[in-house]
Amino acid sequence: MDKAVDALTELEAAAELARLAADIAYHSARYHTDDAPEISDAEYDALVRRNAAIEARFPALVRADSPSEKVGAAPAGHLAKVAHAKGMLSLDNAFSREDAQEFVGRVRRYLALAEDAPMALTAEPKIDGLSCSLRYERGRLVLAATRGDGSTGEDVTANVRTIADIPETLSGDVPDVFEIRGEVYMTKAAFAELNARLAGERVFANPRNAAAGSLRQKNPEVTRERPLCFLAHGWGEASALPADTQIGVMHAIRDWGLPVSDLLIRAEGVDGALDHYAAIERMRADLPFDIDGVVYKVDRLDWQARLGQVARAPRWAIAHKFPAERAQTLLERIDIQVGRTGKLTPVARLQPVTVGGVVVTNATLHNADEIERLGARPGDRVVVQRAGDVIPQIVEVLTRDEERPKFEFPTQCPIEFGGCGSSVDREPGEVDWRCTGGLICPAQRVERLRHFVSRHALDIEGLGLTQIEDFFRDGLIHAPADIYRLSEEQLLARKKDGRVWAAKLLAGIAAKRNPPLDRLLFALGIRHVGEVTARDLARRWRSWSALRAAVDAANARRAELTPALGETEEKFTARAAKELAAAIDTPGVGPEVAQALCDFFAEAHNQAAVADLEAVLEGIADVVHETMESEVSGKTVVFTGSLETLSRDEAKAQAERLGAKVAGSVSAKTDLVVAGPGAGSKLAKAQQLGIATLDEAGWIALVARAG
Ligand code: IVH
Repeated sequence: MDKAVDALTELEAAAELARLAADIAYHSARYHTDDAPEISDAEYDALVRRNAAIEARFPALVRADSPSEKVGAAPAGHLAKVAHAKGMLSLDNAFSREDAQEFVGRVRRYLALAEDAPMALTAEPKIDGLSCSLRYERGRLVLAATRGDGSTGEDVTANVRTIADIPETLSGDVPDVFEIRGEVYMTKAAFAELNARLAGERVFANPRNAAAGSLRQKNPEVTRERPLCFLAHGWGEASALPADTQIGVMHAIRDWGLPVSDLLIRAEGVDGALDHYAAIERMRADLPFDIDGVVYKVDRLDWQARLGQVARAPRWAIAHKFPAERAQTLLERIDIQVGRTGKLTPVARLQPVTVGGVVVTNATLHNADEIERLGARPGDRVVVQRAGDVIPQIVEVLTRDEERPKFEFPTQCPIEFGGCGSSVDREPGEVDWRCTGGLICPAQRVERLRHFVSRHALDIEGLGLTQIEDFFRDGLIHAPADIYRLSEEQLLARKKDGRVWAAKLLAGIAAKRNPPLDRLLFALGIRHVGEVTARDLARRWRSWSALRAAVDAANARRAELTPALGETEEKFTARAAKELAAAIDTPGVGPEVAQALCDFFAEAHNQAAVADLEAVLEGIADVVHETMESEVSGKTVVFTGSLETLSRDEAKAQAERLGAKVAGSVSAKTDLVVAGPGAGSKLAKAQQLGIATLDEAGWIALVARAG
């Protein structure tokens, strides 16, 4: 059960917001991208509401990746998919006059037109909404669909019927089948009103998100309450066309009863189109809706047909974008966010400022180097820029009081922002600082716990990823060792009639009280120590105590090293890492991995968490997965293409069980390539190098021969 928002400490709130941001993004992707939601709409909404409630109580903790900035587009329900009769295209962009002129030049060359041959273009605003296709059959609206991926969209017919701009029937002489395409959008005023009305629930980041969220509602009655508008800008399938020019068809669409932009014009050439761009740019702030550029289209439809499309954009149209919008404001402070993987991201907290119609209060500073590059200090006046959907950025520091101290990037994982106080570390050549307190860092804990029980780590039966998150949220487990301390009583308190469930879960946990060394090492989530490295280390050192002794010895040796005269810090760190690798002395473990491993065990917090784990485990088994003698023992195998009966993981595990090494790319060192359908360059390379190849069936037979 969730702790009451009022009862949360700031630390707990920061950790929970981090978790919610990741969870909501995850479930949103399952829903939108995979079309395979794992939780119900109500559960999803509950997550979003809790996020909003915590943010309302702790406004300073609002994250740059906060779901409240994005969830606008998340619909409350499931909409049916519809295939578009004709693909819904997107547009290439032009960012300058020269780009626009170059577009016209390309069109002329493609059509083999003389440089001075007349070529009319239409020009109209590019509305920041979401595109929608309206299918009219015999003048009646029969289907409305969102763009989706361009080939398949979502059926929003019932919702579209609630939009006043969109008539149920067209008037006049309309072809039998005609799909009108255009933009569903929300005016700036309606957006502000809606957000005021929704305050406390979801608020939308911008009118476009508001329009998308409103159109893709499960319940059309909700859409009806949202003031959406429509502007036509083209068409899809059509049984006949009312004109032979873009402008002619658009005027017909207007006559049939659908809104077409008042700012749509036909220009005789590119200069006229560019003048219109300048005129629209001047009106931009006063227009009732957001626009982000001007779209030019070749007017003659026979030319459009000849030009066709490249990839997903027509050759006959281009979006001339406005430059990113900027504004000046005060940089109030710089907060540091700790991500789920320990990455520290500085976030600028700004005095609220309107940039292109959106109130901006946060901007990303990316990393420590960026702060340095900008020379940004709290108290500075800065220029913020917002382009499209991207997170606002600080592009320039205007004035500064040199008296104010420089911003010091933390050397410890910031407790005040949900971190843990462990030291932070940056690897040579990397820009990001990371917290080293993996196991104990609240910001990273959930992720670490999920990793700890995951299939390739301890693989605790009955303890799924969602369950781990629930237990963490409810304070039952904070660190891996807590898993082993779960009691029947605690479990029974969570579930009515949960005896069987609790017994099973406890048995699953008990079965992993003596985990194999390689799995435990992998489960600890040490940076760069993946499954293969964990196995390499386990093979080399055979026991937990021997490995720990090797790491301790390596750390002791590092402590004795001192920089040579004139040696740069970077060189010294690299030399120390090499020494560590020598001490760890394991094939496949280079300086980078050795350093990560040694850092992990040198960190006091991790030592405590590991000691705690040792205390609850019965032991750590010395065994590693024994390998079998086979035709591929000691050989290097590459899998490529799609395997049909085996998963990649399984195939890899089989190969390793047979004593083979699995590599990701083909080289002269490869002995065997197993190629499924769709294998591309890797297979070609193998054949070129004369390397043996097998198909999946051949591989399965080989595995069977090994017994
Ligand atoms: S024409 C055949 N015209 O911008 C080309 N698109 O970035 C189809 N958009 O998916 C689009 N205003 O949703 C066109 N006046 C306009 C537009 C416009 C906004 C949207 C449209 C398209 C996206 C491409």
